[in-house]
Amino acid sequence: MAQVMDLQTFMKERKKLVEDALFTYINAVDAPQVLLESMSYSLEAGGKRLRPLLVLATLHSFGKPEKLGLPVACAVEMIHTYSLIHDDLPSMDDDDYRRGKPTNHKVYGEAMAILAGDALLTYSFEVMEDLLNRGVSPIKVVTLMKELSKASGPEGMVGGQVADMEGEGKALSLEELEYIHRNKTGKLLGYSIVAGAILGDASEEQIAKLSLFADHLGLAFQIRDDILDIEGDAEKIGKPVGSDTDNDKVTYPSLLTMEGAKEKLEYHISEAQQLLSEMSLESDLLSQLCDLIAKRDH
Ligand code: IPE
Ligand code: IPE
Ligand code: MG
Ligand code: MG
Ligand code: MG
Repeated sequence: MAQVMDLQTFMKERKKLVEDALFTYINAVDAPQVLLESMSYSLEAGGKRLRPLLVLATLHSFGKPEKLGLPVACAVEMIHTYSLIHDDLPSMDDDDYRRGKPTNHKVYGEAMAILAGDALLTYSFEVMEDLLNRGVSPIKVVTLMKELSKASGPEGMVGGQVADMEGEGKALSLEELEYIHRNKTGKLLGYSIVAGAILGDASEEQIAKLSLFADHLGLAFQIRDDILDIEGDAEKIGKPVGSDTDNDKVTYPSLLTMEGAKEKLEYHISEAQQLLSEMSLESDLLSQLCDLIAKRDH
């Protein structure tokens, strides 16, 4: 039976665990120095590490050793970091500031930023192989790799990013906007939870319910991101505000008004909490993370 744990303690301790593991993996790479510097620059810039924390919190809820999830946690964070490096490029959102520092291309140039992103993406799959050294069965490792690929690729994050770009300057329906949010952001967040459940030996039924939970959480997360792009404090969020307006993006606030966006956010969080409460899991940490996502100011 997993122990009840205070969220702040969990976040502080596990963040350190994940960051130590990330740098152990990066330090093991033999590659041109400038590439390693560019990869490390964005990884070290320090995000919230929310996806790794979701992997570990889910494992915790199944009463499994969290160390089991570190390769997955690091792989997801590498893919997420690559997606941010590319998202900020002049040909995409054209942003100069990320995680409180100048964006990767501002420091290393566009070509190196593209390649550092490519390297983080490909290396993440090599990192996944480390699950075998932690006693995870080869069949599970293949499943986890396939799901990671799906969540990140054309049926996931990349597909969402394309729809996001194509939607610039257009009038989108709520359904079209949901597709964008669900894919560009939701799928990778959802993977973090489902991967934790797979590693935690969850039943098919538990995985299905957690996937639904993750879907609501992913939408809520990106709605909050859209809200922060208007109401946030650039200093706190570590990236510029107003990027969506500058790029003529349809967002939840632009489509539904700020009030409507906040209502939708509440709706998805309460659905997520409801699903969690229907499961007989030690889900206190996941539930607290859910509330944090709804209220986060960065
Ligand atoms: C930002 O993600 C990009 C989106 C998918 C909305 P996060 O808000 O998790 O960024 P970091 O990792 O904390 O920098
Ligand atoms: C990007 O969404 C999501 C990915 C990077 C896949 P946004 O463009 O809204 O993210 P931010 O606001 O720049 O972090
Ligand atoms: Mg974007
Ligand atoms: Mg962006
Ligand atoms: Mg945004």
